[in-house]
This record gives sequence, structure tokens and C-alpha cells, in this order.
Amino acid sequence: MVKVSVFNGPNLNLLGQREPDTYGQRSLEDIMRDLEQFAADCGLQLDHMQTNSEGEMVDAIQQAGKDAVDYIIINPAGYTHTSVAIRDALLAVEIPFVEVHLSAVNSREPFRQVNYFSDIAIGVISGFRGESYLLALQAILNRIEP
Ligand code: DQA
Repeated sequence: MVKVSVFNGPNLNLLGQREPDTYGQRSLEDIMRDLEQFAADCGLQLDHMQTNSEGEMVDAIQQAGKDAVDYIIINPAGYTHTSVAIRDALLAVEIPFVEVHLSAVNSREPFRQVNYFSDIAIGVISGFRGESYLLALQAILNRIEP
């Protein structure tokens, strides 16, 4: 069974309350519930975690390497624009990953144009609010069963 791990970075635990005009009205719990359902319908094994800590994210990625996870979906959130450590962890485990954002980061502030992940991702899905995660999983499915 194909294993997919979903990693969500800082402040995404506040989705639904946090800047709803930018990130949408839905909670992370609701978004992940839909994603789990979609994965189950497609016969994929999916787990997900959220952390506000960079070190925990690095540890979780290293663990995914040990657990032979096949694909990662990651929303590094604020770490997208700062984290060499999370980038290095993804390169170290060599697990193909899709970078996801709820907002359209490319049309936001200049500091969000700095990105430590896009050049090493399979692809980037950005701007579709919670649906970005479903689109990322669909993209992985398309790679598995072209
Ligand atoms: C985000 C975009 C980031 O710039 C921001 O820091 C976030 C969320 C998104 O999903 O749109 O926390 O990754």
C-alpha cells in the first residue's frame, strides 16, 4: 500500500480562526478529515501531523524516511520562507514531496517570494484554500497510476 504523510507547519492549527479571508473558514481538522476520506477511497495509507516547531518537523521527516513513506505532502507555513533545516531533511530522506499552500503565496508580500522548497518539490499547489491538499493527493495518485 502506498504511504503518504502530510506535514503541516506553524499556526496551521489555527485555521478557521486565523485570517479567514486569506486562509479560509475551515479548520485543519476538517480539511484533514476530507483528505483522509479521499485517501481511504483511493486505497492509500495516509497520516498527518501539525507542529509549531521546526525541530519537530525535521524529526517527523526523518521518521518518514525510516518508515519508508512513499510521498510527502507538506505545508511548511512560515518555514517555507526561512527553513534550510526542513529543506535539508527532505533532501536527506529523498522522499518525493508536493508543497502545498492554502493562500496564493506568489501574489502576496515580497518576503513570501523567498521559498526554500519549490525547486526541490515534485510540484507546488497554492491558492485553493483547503482544497489544495486534495489537489496534491490527486497529483500523487496521477503519478502512481498515470
Ligand atoms: C501558508 C503561506 C505562508 O506564507 C504562511 O506563512 C502560512 C501559510 C499557506 O498555506 O498559504 O502560514 O503556507
